Formats: sequence, C-alpha cells, structure tokens
Amino acid sequence: MGVKTYRRIVILTGAGISAESGLGTFRDKDGLWTKYDLRDVATPEGFERNPAFVHEFYNARRRGLLTAQPNAAHHALARLEAEHAGEVLIVTQNVDDLHERAGSRNLIHMHGELARIRCGRCETVTEHRGDIDTATVCGHCGRAGAMRPHVVWFGEMPLLMDEIHEALEACDLFVSIGTSGTVYPAAGFVAQVRRGRRALTVELNLDPSDGHSLFAQHRYGNASEIVPVFVDELLRGEP
Ligand code: APR
Repeated sequence: MGVKTYRRIVILTGAGISAESGLGTFRDKDGLWTKYDLRDVATPEGFERNPAFVHEFYNARRRGLLTAQPNAAHHALARLEAEHAGEVLIVTQNVDDLHERAGSRNLIHMHGELARIRCGRCETVTEHRGDIDTATVCGHCGRAGAMRPHVVWFGEMPLLMDEIHEALEACDLFVSIGTSGTVYPAAGFVAQVRRGRRALTVELNLDPSDGHSLFAQHRYGNASEIVPVFVDELLRGEP
C-alpha cells in the first residue's frame, strides 16, 4: 500500500470518545437518557416548564468537567492535527471541552458547549464554568432570569452547519468516533460524504452504530485504544 496522505480529514465525535474520561454517554445501558427524560432537560419546552431543574442538570454536568480529563483518544486526535500535513477538522456533538484541553484547535461544537452560557434576551454567549440559575444576570444586557446553557436542544438548529456541510463535501477521509448515529443532522453526515464518491469513510466505535453499514471500514473497541492506533497508521501514510 503506497503512502497515502489525506488532504482534508473530517472527524465526527460523539459521547463515546469521552466515556473513558468518566463523562456519561446518552444511550448506553446506564446512559443519561436512561436516568432523565430528554424532554425535561434537552428541549426549549422543558426549560420553559422548569428552568431550575434544567439549570441543576447542566450545573451538575458542568461541575463534571472540573474532574474529567482528556483520554488517549482526544490526545491522539490533537496529535493528528499537529503532525498531519493535510487539514484535520473535528466536528463534535459533545458539549465537553476535552478536545480543546487535549490541544485540538480546528474544532466545531455543533451542539454547543457546557462551559458557555447564553442570554435568552440579547443572545450574548460568555464562557462560564460555575453554576447558573434563574437569578443569574447577563453581564452584557444586565437582565436577570434569561440565562441558559449554550447547548443546542432537540428542536433547535445545530451550530455552524454551513461550514460543516462544506467540509463534508470537500473531505477525502471521514471518520466517525464514539457516536450511535441516531441523532440528525450528524447521523446523516456519512451519507452526504458517500454521495461525493471521493472520501474513505471509517467508523471507530465500541459497537456498530445505526449507520455502520454506510461506512467502508470499521474498527470496534474502546476509543482510547483504537483511536491512537488509527492515528499512528494515518501518520505513517496508511490505511
Ligand atoms: N469507546 C468508543 N465508543 C464508545 C465507548 C468507548 N469507550 N463507550 C461508548 N461508546 C459508543 C457507544 O457504542 C455508542 O454508539 O458511543 C456511542 C454513544 O452513543 P450515544 O450515547 O447515543 O451518544 P451520541 O451518539 O454522542 O449522541 C448524539 O444525542 O442526546 C443527543 O445531544 C446529544 O450529542 C448527543 C447526541
């Protein structure tokens, strides 16, 4: 096999890449959606109904960021970005900051970020790692009672979708890591890439995702083990 250098790599990540860092996934056997009804904590209607409950749900997850550490999978992707000759873009569904803390820079958080909050009145987004509640005042417009997590809820538009679709059209390698492939639009990315007939598509996951049959290559196991091996191969000019 000759040395292959991919010019533009797009990597989609999901909760599975952060599972070994101690942050829960959503749909595994003890996942978040087995403990909470997502309609209560991940929809605008749920926030409208009981903002205090939703604040506490995200405050607890934000506090979890203080102890979670990036794992070998996050570090391997940061190394790929630093050492690979071509462009490497991570599109993450995750709202944790483990990719950044591992050193990744070319990164899109399509579902927002736990470490940011947004004013429901003036839309200003600010970095904030502490708890918020219904009395939190917006540092920009000064109003209280309208602050929310800067997280995309079901029924809301994911962020930077134009940039993401452009990157998917242009890539020659698409890798999906640690996602069940059940939530759109991310679940549809591999089909978009396949229509371009140019890119190699690879799934790295613990178990086959819903979209596994759409990928040309599959590797199954823990992200902290299979992602570093995959990155080493890419940097050697394989697969
Ligand atoms: N290594 C690799 N993959 C893993 C690991 C691991 N250690 N542990 C779990 N996984 C895989 C599971 O097999 C599963 O396919 O990670 C995936 C997690 O799937 P979900 O819990 O559905 O998480 P995700 O796909 O990221 O969910 C997408 O749903 O609720 C929304 O906004 C939320 O961004 C989230 C979106």
